[in-house]
Amino acid sequence: MKPRIVVPLVAAFCLGLFSASDAWAGDAGIVVPKLLPQPAQMVEKSGSFVVDGNTRIHADGAVAQTVAAQFAVMLPTSVSLQRKPVAGKTQGGIAFAIDTMQAWQSPEAYVIDIDANGVRVRAGDEKGLYYGAVTLTQLLTSGDAAASVRLPALHIEDAPRFGWRGVMLDSARHFQSVDDIKRLLDAMAQLKLDVFHWHLTDDQGWRFPVPGWPKLTTVGSCRIPSGDGGIDAATGKPAPYCGFYSEAQIRDVVAYAAARHIMIVPEVDIPGHATAAIAAYPQLGVSGQPVAVSSEWGVNVNLFNADEATMRFLEDVMGQVAKLFPGGYVHIGGDEAVKDQWKVSAKMQARIRELGVNGEEGLQAWMIARLERYLSAHGKRVIGWDEILAGKLPPSATVMSWRGAEGGIDAAKQGHDVVMAPAGDLYLDYLQTDSADEPPGRPSLVTLKQVYDFEPVPKVLDAQQATHILGVQANVWTEHMRTVARVQHALFPRIAALAEVAWSPKSERDYVGFLQRLPAMLPRWRAQGIAYAATPFQPTVASELQHGGVQATLREQLGYTLRYTTDGSVPTAASPMYYTTLGLPLPATLSAQAFFDGKPLGAVVTRTFTAASLLSRSDEELATCSRKLVLRLEDDGPRTGDRAIFNVDIFDPCWVWKRAPLAGIAEVQVRAGRIPYFFQLAHDEPSRVFKPAQTAHGELELRAGCDGQVLATVPLPAQPDADGFITLHAPLQNAPAGGDLCIRFTGDTRPTMWVLDRVTLMPR
Ligand code: ACM
Repeated sequence: MKPRIVVPLVAAFCLGLFSASDAWAGDAGIVVPKLLPQPAQMVEKSGSFVVDGNTRIHADGAVAQTVAAQFAVMLPTSVSLQRKPVAGKTQGGIAFAIDTMQAWQSPEAYVIDIDANGVRVRAGDEKGLYYGAVTLTQLLTSGDAAASVRLPALHIEDAPRFGWRGVMLDSARHFQSVDDIKRLLDAMAQLKLDVFHWHLTDDQGWRFPVPGWPKLTTVGSCRIPSGDGGIDAATGKPAPYCGFYSEAQIRDVVAYAAARHIMIVPEVDIPGHATAAIAAYPQLGVSGQPVAVSSEWGVNVNLFNADEATMRFLEDVMGQVAKLFPGGYVHIGGDEAVKDQWKVSAKMQARIRELGVNGEEGLQAWMIARLERYLSAHGKRVIGWDEILAGKLPPSATVMSWRGAEGGIDAAKQGHDVVMAPAGDLYLDYLQTDSADEPPGRPSLVTLKQVYDFEPVPKVLDAQQATHILGVQANVWTEHMRTVARVQHALFPRIAALAEVAWSPKSERDYVGFLQRLPAMLPRWRAQGIAYAATPFQPTVASELQHGGVQATLREQLGYTLRYTTDGSVPTAASPMYYTTLGLPLPATLSAQAFFDGKPLGAVVTRTFTAASLLSRSDEELATCSRKLVLRLEDDGPRTGDRAIFNVDIFDPCWVWKRAPLAGIAEVQVRAGRIPYFFQLAHDEPSRVFKPAQTAHGELELRAGCDGQVLATVPLPAQPDADGFITLHAPLQNAPAGGDLCIRFTGDTRPTMWVLDRVTLMPR
């Protein structure tokens, strides 16, 4: 057979029309490679090689031995072979070797050759050989689990597009165990991601010990969560949320990452996001007054002062960081440091004059430059969020562009190295679908496709400036991620898209091909105990009452085939395919599921519709008036376990039922919950729109549209009922039919707020 380069399939309107095996015109029984990220070059050849219980792993030399042993552990037990590597050169079986005869494009490059005689994995360096082992693991798990795997003969030549292929995890807002972090590092390595940016300090927690400063962990690592989450129900006493990593644990994580060729970049955020440290040592703050470790999210005004004593503290911290983390970079934060406290502090103003720096931005730049000198003397380079560009920046500093790409563009033009991590494309705390099954987070979506389509090198950079783009990074902020399952939901599957952006040549990027390879990742992640998000693989159902029946519209974000039933049974590969809105008589039960290659992908979604259910909507099924900052927030209790979740615009809390069927409606019932208003909005505070209350505790107010006529008002009680909810009954008279129904709670009830859970229309 003539060798051919495997090219992606042409884009298709509906992915489900393909069978995956169409992509590889191989012999029956040969697995179709499902590789993520897609290699730089893969050429199919004639023939195949079978891996089974008799296949041996051979390793030529000590480095190859190390990688072969890692391969044997990485490979799921569903693949049969002799796992103990045998030393030496060989013919046959699977052979790993460092090859110094060839000039390699980079230390991360590798080659795999498969023919009838066996599999050979070669590289110039250990990191490249490791990535060869990762690719071979994916080749061997591309098909269904079986006693033997027939691999296609092929030649892969691979090396990454970018050197910085990063993920940031915020362990300050919520804390993850060492085992959970190791599980993430494993999954990162298997996607060839190689930077773990570890956000270890913030207003809500300080997460590592520094010799000489014991209160950082005895005080700074604990906060009392807002509301019921901070009270022990049994004793009524405060229930702190605590956690820090010991030196031994950090060394363990660092070694674990290094074995997987992942550099850890620790972050100590200065001069803002500093409340936990100031709570431990008030003399580090501007006022010197005691503060508590924060249990509120947002932008806190507390800053470190820039006294000599505080600089020595920060140098102690950086010294500890330099000692614990052997990687080449330290992240010094620099983001969201509103300068209000420095502006009004006589001491800080005197410090600005004494140092002769240019105002408050100049003072921040001076702190960064001082720490840069210290870290540089310890062999480290400084990286910071794009705000650090506001002052004069040391030339060696690297900029992490998060407020869009502009900071990265400016930095690259100024000759700084850049890592692209723009919030609108690569912040994975933004939710990925609008499904009501999404966990808490930010409903401004970052879809899988958006991550996949992100181009790290802005067009406006010339070739020389573009060399400063070191790579890309996805960031996970954990304010709303109380459990590691939520962290995993945020990361997976989107980091697979990130991996391809970071690794594969631009010419090999192909979203349709990616979606055909992605389903093979799901069993790999399940085997690793990773709770990847099922929401992108399952349909959402929108429904509307029309002509006495239901109009049900299914949507599945990724374009996999949807199949459905209306008799209550679970859809199968033989069930009808969904094309367009279904009109069903009432009552109706609709079950739907996504399929790829004849196999179900996500969970079955079932909805039962009755005349009454179509007159009721949850908060997720409603719009808001302005979308200033919509969050998907959870209730404050119970302390552990499941909590109610509410979609709410924290700047302009209102809920809108578009084209509500109000004709013939006698009453609107509103079920509402109450959650803490736990946000620091800093300079955005004046944008809050809370309508004034008319009565002691405010009112439920219904309007015909956001600014339309008032349809009804009902006074609110002082407290919710014992279950944390209230149900309010608002009689309606002559409401306009078919207009928008807007629901608000008036009054400023901070530190709590009412939030809508469900609205139900009661016919006359
Ligand atoms: C950031 O998201 N504040 C860097």
